[in-house]
Amino acid sequence: MTDTVDSLFPAHLQHVMRLADRALERARCDGLVVYSGRPTEYFLDDHGPAFKANPHFLHWAPLQEAPDCFVRYSPGQRPQLVFHQPADYWHKPPTVPTAAWTREFDIAVIREPGEARALLGTDRQRLAFVGEAPADIGGWGFAAINPDPLLAYLHYHRAAKTPYELACLREASRLGAIGHIAAAAAFRAGASEYEVHQAYCTAIGLREQELPYGNIIAFGEGAAILHYTALGRSRDVPRPTFLIDAGGQYRGYASDITRTHVAAGADPTYLQLMASMEKLQLELCAAVKPGVDYRDIHLLAHRLIAGALVDAGVIKGCTADDAATNGVSHVFFPHGIGHLLGLQVHDVAGLAADDTGRTDIPRPAGHRYLRLTRKLEPGFVVTIEPGLYFIDLLLDEAQAKGLGRFINGELVQRLKPYGGIRIEDDVACTATATPENLTRDAFKRVA
Ligand code: GLY
Ligand code: MN
Ligand code: MN
Repeated sequence: MTDTVDSLFPAHLQHVMRLADRALERARCDGLVVYSGRPTEYFLDDHGPAFKANPHFLHWAPLQEAPDCFVRYSPGQRPQLVFHQPADYWHKPPTVPTAAWTREFDIAVIREPGEARALLGTDRQRLAFVGEAPADIGGWGFAAINPDPLLAYLHYHRAAKTPYELACLREASRLGAIGHIAAAAAFRAGASEYEVHQAYCTAIGLREQELPYGNIIAFGEGAAILHYTALGRSRDVPRPTFLIDAGGQYRGYASDITRTHVAAGADPTYLQLMASMEKLQLELCAAVKPGVDYRDIHLLAHRLIAGALVDAGVIKGCTADDAATNGVSHVFFPHGIGHLLGLQVHDVAGLAADDTGRTDIPRPAGHRYLRLTRKLEPGFVVTIEPGLYFIDLLLDEAQAKGLGRFINGELVQRLKPYGGIRIEDDVACTATATPENLTRDAFKRVA
């Protein structure tokens, strides 16, 4: 695996350099300094949250645990990596990297962040700085810190992944699939939510801080809480269903996978909804093609989920198409169909209209949580995550808005203990009409 990824890195870096060339023209700067970041501390304390590197830095160099490092690049030149390895006997200093990708860089090692100042050159007033600049570094006289035209260009073009990035995302998916299989086994063996989480991390060999986001592991009614991360410690709780939304991570690239499992003896209507969701999720994944407006996939999801709810008798007195427009489908499906995926789980620029910073592709009216409104292009990786849930807050709101007549309240009460259903795959848009389903392929590979 590492061999394949490594062999793809030089071409990836060339692509990143070409993006930087054009972004620098936009920002009228001669060169770029990308900073990895610095750990922060909790209020009134001497330690803080786990370090998370600037995604722009990870786009250049797969160094996730290396604070106060810099990539320095000027068009036409080899990139330089200024690697911070402090003299420190309290913590283990980061090891100077020697992996194959480092051959693409000139590397200088520093002991103090301040040593980077001279190494970055005397033309700093011509350089754009990208990252969260601490006060000491921000005062080094850069031409601009995070200039909008430069970031807008880089963010927009990060949506289309290079073959290297796709390989990383495949590996993140493989890890996710391994974790999901271990988690499902732990659930079946009677583990608590917390223990399922532990089984997940153990199976994929990642610490919590290395996961792309906090695991969502919910039994029963907890599945109706979209971002439930409470991780209950008790095994002795109702557990008719198990929803797990958890990903893997490789070289900073994320997977974002959700599966819903059901215990034996479930209500037949719930089982019918599970089957419908599985079928419609695959239909939505198949819609990931170049030129397709992602908003249309989202609106199709509303119609299909409404259809599943009408067929099951949960929605009554209107057609699926009516339910998708009169607000009833929102009661059960209150989030977007998905988002871009990459170095960030909710990757940047989902609402970008172009690479100059325009964000005026509107969400469909009333769909305020949709995170992606762009037309798909080859290389885009998106999630497809239809869901349906029985959420008191939204059911009460529906009553207040006069939508109660379209909802079979008795049946909803019967289904509430199951919480909900979400199925989420990571799907790469290819140049053809056949997308690559990273998640389903990963489950097949590790089965
Ligand atoms: N795991 C968060 C999401 O699915 O967007
Ligand atoms: Mn998810
Ligand atoms: Mn997601």
